[in-house]
Amino acid sequence: MNWFTNHPPHFVRWMFSSLTIGLMGIAVSGSAAAAQSAPSNDSVTANWGKTQDPNRAEPFWGEHQGGIATKPQHFTYFAAFDLTTTKREDVISLLKAWTAAAARMTDGETAQPMEGGLKLAVIPAPPQGGDASEMPDPGPRAADTGEVLGMPPSRLTITFGFGAGLFSKDGKDRFGLAAQRPEVLVDMPNFGAIDQMAPEHTGGDLVIQACAEDPQVAFHAIRQLARIAEGVAAIHWVQTGYRPIAGDRHLLGFSAEEKVPGMNAPSGEAIWVGKDGPEWMRGGSYIVVRRIRFAVEHWDQMPQAYQESAIGAMKHPHMEADQAQTTEKPSTDNAATDDSVPAHLAIVSPGRDSMLRRSYSYNDGVNFISERWPPWRQGLEYDAGMFFVCFQRDPRTGFIAVFRQMANRDFKLNQFWTHVGGGLFAVPRGAKQGEYIGQRLFESH
Ligand code: HEM
Repeated sequence: MNWFTNHPPHFVRWMFSSLTIGLMGIAVSGSAAAAQSAPSNDSVTANWGKTQDPNRAEPFWGEHQGGIATKPQHFTYFAAFDLTTTKREDVISLLKAWTAAAARMTDGETAQPMEGGLKLAVIPAPPQGGDASEMPDPGPRAADTGEVLGMPPSRLTITFGFGAGLFSKDGKDRFGLAAQRPEVLVDMPNFGAIDQMAPEHTGGDLVIQACAEDPQVAFHAIRQLARIAEGVAAIHWVQTGYRPIAGDRHLLGFSAEEKVPGMNAPSGEAIWVGKDGPEWMRGGSYIVVRRIRFAVEHWDQMPQAYQESAIGAMKHPHMEADQAQTTEKPSTDNAATDDSVPAHLAIVSPGRDSMLRRSYSYNDGVNFISERWPPWRQGLEYDAGMFFVCFQRDPRTGFIAVFRQMANRDFKLNQFWTHVGGGLFAVPRGAKQGEYIGQRLFESH
């Protein structure tokens, strides 16, 4: 028995973080205390002004899931899973195990208690007609892979979502939930040329958004949840994202400061499902994610005046003087400098209060390309852009309405970006201590 197995995991992770922090001379208490002092995430505005102190733990239990009205952390790891089981009880067991592990990790603990090893959500059954005793013994596996031991909670939030495939797939009511599919969980329309959704980056029966102030903490969370899901669900696609540590600009070079919709309406009317939705969704929301690839190389060849007229904003005040020599100052009212094509901001502003944007930049290295059209070229192209994330109570009047306008009118930008993946998912209400995420859906009939 080693030192770790002798000590409760929470103590282990807490002890390391306290020690580190103590050495840094910063006075903090343990993660449990931090969780207690953290405000409830009941209102949209409550957390927005909070600091991004990695020693803080965000609350897990509550009416709403974390990671929505939570001030955005600097890193995200988003994972979409396919259910590989055919049994409703397995899905329930998985959600119970995921809820328990997510609550622990949010609080800065290991995914499961270190003693006793890994507990899968569902004990694998022997192959049909087989004998359990003939199953290969995988041996004891560690309850947690350990890469965040000693690290603080890092404001981790874990947000679960349900895709259309949970309700039915290929016309089959797999888990007896087809009748519970919310009306607003629509099949996403295709928006034309800028919409080239690749199956390997699209959809999923269950999704998890892990956000944290440390990329390793976010990845750790997904890694543990995927381990627990063995035999029940498998990862279909993932996407990482980041926000600059200082500043708020995304890769086109413009400020990306999200506004909180309904700043004056702390009830979060635009985000939380109310009485108009199914009972199990009340207090929940709908998430739309889009992997939007920028043609960075082409964008970088454009004059700054064009870029500013395309977005409808100045890049930086110090550029204003240079800008004035070449063009009029763009504004959201009259964004186009060279023609009458409106700017992004002019197009999307009317829809600003219909969604809460919580997007990240992504940078997945380079792809090799070979083009046969003039000017024939081979070379490397960045695979980078925006992992657009938004929450709303009704995606038909939120993302879909706004994006339809963009697809039809945002011509100055549409030639530089392509939507290559993502999806729409129902994010059920939060869980109270003792409940599991999605419980009311499974108990609703
Ligand atoms: C490549 C992806 C995109 C880029 C580079 C981009 C860029 C920007 C920028 C620079 C702003 C102003 C700063 C801010 O408030 O964040 C903005 C605002 C906004 N964008 Fe986008 N955007 C993108 C995609 C989208 C998509 C897909 C939607 C929705 C379908 C959208 C909806 C909005 C809305 C609603 C606002 C707020 C406008 C306001 O406050 O008046 N954007 N975007």
